[in-house]
Amino acid sequence: MSTADRIGVDAGGTLIKAAVHREEKWIYRSFPLSQIDACAEWLHLISSERSIHLTGGKAGKLKERLRGRTSVIFPEFAVSAEGARQLIAYERDVVPDAFLLTNVGTGTSLNYVHSGKIDWMGGSGVGGGTIIGLSGLLTGIYDFDTLIQYASRGRRTMIDLTVARIYEGEEPPIAGDLTASNFGAVSKDSSSSSPEDQIASVIGLVAETVTSLSILAAQRAGVNTVIFAGSTFSGNELLTEIVKRYCAEWGITAMIPRHGAYCGAIGAACS
Ligand SMILES: Nc1ncnc2c1ncn2[C@@H]1O[C@H](COP(=O)(O)OP(=O)(O)OP(=O)(O)O)[C@@H](O)[C@H]1O
Ligand SMILES: [Mg+2]
Repeated sequence: MSTADRIGVDAGGTLIKAAVHREEKWIYRSFPLSQIDACAEWLHLISSERSIHLTGGKAGKLKERLRGRTSVIFPEFAVSAEGARQLIAYERDVVPDAFLLTNVGTGTSLNYVHSGKIDWMGGSGVGGGTIIGLSGLLTGIYDFDTLIQYASRGRRTMIDLTVARIYEGEEPPIAGDLTASNFGAVSKDSSSSSPEDQIASVIGLVAETVTSLSILAAQRAGVNTVIFAGSTFSGNELLTEIVKRYCAEWGITAMIPRHGAYCGAIGAACS
């Protein structure tokens, strides 16, 4: 196995993401947090004499398991911002001077990134963990890939109440297809909905919450680009589509890098 030039690892509340730079290419690998020991073993194998750059809430836990290796912990928000820049440039898009970075991880954080500085603008407990936890409670399905497959076949009309349905034929003051109430169409008398529909509505709830917050924060910061990152977007077409559409309606450009799950890991590797 040839050794890496740089290794960054972002150990979060759900997943550990590793980005390895080798022969001018990034190689990505993720582990569930429950496999932290297997991840540490793998890092021992690939890292040779290199120092391992760590970030994320579980970086300390991983560092304990990397005894005998040089490892350094970097602050999560700063490295994620740098990683977002690198990823956008790597995917051949123009990197904006200033942007909002919304990281939809287990939870959601919003940071205003500008002229080498980062201002934390808040966050929400509604994030990727909500997709797993709430969908799991509703349907008994907790596997992320299965959830996004189900969601792709789901319809939200039985569960979510749109503005148009509240106004019932009257002219609404805002776009009728906006959600007036997530899960608001459900009552004890409504007919039962399928797991597919329920999971699509959970993803809708998360998508609309993180997008609304991002739009407001972007307006407050005076930027018109939001970079969305986090593993919650990985293969998640429904989330991606809602976030893009909703941002576009507000004149905000949503950039969702293909490997946005690895912003923290890439940023750490480059620190
Ligand atoms: N293989 C997977 N297993 C579990 N969750 C996954 C998987 N792939 C994507 N996800 C989604 O990504 C979310 C975790 O995202 P991410 O890895 O960015 O968070 P984290 O870094 O672990 O958490 P945080 O940054 O909040 O500490 C999960 O909650 C889930 O919705
Ligand atoms: Mg994270």
